Amino acid sequence: MTTRATVIGVGHYLPDRIVENHEFADGLDGVIDGTIKLDTSDDWIRSRSGIERRHFAAAGQTTSDLAVKACEAALADAGLVADDIDAIVLATSTADLTFPSAATMVQDKLGMTQGFAFDVQAVCAGFVYALTNANALIVSGQAKRVLVIGAETFSRIMDWTDRGTCVLFGDGAGALVLEAQEGSGTNADRGILASDLNSDGRYRDILYVDGGTSTGQTGFLRMEGREVFRHAVEKLASTANTSLAKAEMTAEQIDWVVPHQANIRIIAGTAKKLGLPMDRVVTTVQDHGNTSAASIPLALSVGKARGQIKPGDVVVTEAIGGGLAWGSVLLRW
Ligand code: ACO
Repeated sequence: MTTRATVIGVGHYLPDRIVENHEFADGLDGVIDGTIKLDTSDDWIRSRSGIERRHFAAAGQTTSDLAVKACEAALADAGLVADDIDAIVLATSTADLTFPSAATMVQDKLGMTQGFAFDVQAVCAGFVYALTNANALIVSGQAKRVLVIGAETFSRIMDWTDRGTCVLFGDGAGALVLEAQEGSGTNADRGILASDLNSDGRYRDILYVDGGTSTGQTGFLRMEGREVFRHAVEKLASTANTSLAKAEMTAEQIDWVVPHQANIRIIAGTAKKLGLPMDRVVTTVQDHGNTSAASIPLALSVGKARGQIKPGDVVVTEAIGGGLAWGSVLLRW
């Protein structure tokens, strides 16, 4: 018998405020003091990224606030309450405060006084890192049920004068409940079958936030989009293939690719490299923009709600982000 970390619940939350692409060009109020008005267009944003709209958190609404709502939905989906959970692993680069972790804030807001909680910071790859860590906790017997969350408020680290970045990101949260279940040890089991994590700090300058503890300022996201793009397709297809190889599976066996939702051209390029048609890819980038670590759990939750992802389906998630950090998780839903 082999212990498998199996998905038994999923949920998500998106803040109420929806911003359509044209609002950046027409004049956008209520996000910062004053009006955001950029030399951009719906056509540019849509054709370069596939993004049509995104959600922004309300003033005072924090990453842990979004995460709690996603957790409540995931717990309801699993038919569980917070006391049934042993651990919380929360992927974010936009925690409410430098410390304590957003995960402990979620723990408190859920009324959970047992177990342990911590954040994982691997930017847009954060959710695959969090899932891999949660899997290790379960497989090693340290936790039986784990809430794995991706939650972000990237609107708080945007330079609203930089049209090359601020139109691309959004806020949101998604959560999974993982439970230890006994499997046969073959790739026919439900649960996490394989994962692959990578990073290469030589590329830290192409995607970073220019603030933090060393500057005393939160800072703004800076990105050389073309350079990140250049790395993305090759590294994403490669990490997905590595996870498949570890589980002795091939791309034809994948029912759903659930990629990090940064850019539809990266998503399509990766699917093509894997030899898979777009009708086997869950896409939410058009409605959410890039929500960094939240994008994969959001897409898993939306994909299930749409009736795309069903029990027994083989799902591969893959993501790349600042670091560079990238990776994939292969699981049977
Ligand atoms: N509206 C209009 N024009 C714009 C805008 C805008 N919002 N933004 C940039 N432009 C202009 C540029 O100034 C440039 O003009 P120029 O040629 O006169 O200099 C032109 O459009 C082309 O700019 P590029 O940056 O070369 O455009 P590109 O086709 O590469 O698309 C994009 C840019 C969408 C950022 C793309 O490079 C991309 O998606 N990169 C990857 C981003 C990504 O995947 N990030 C993942 C992780 S994110 C994380 O970890 C936090």
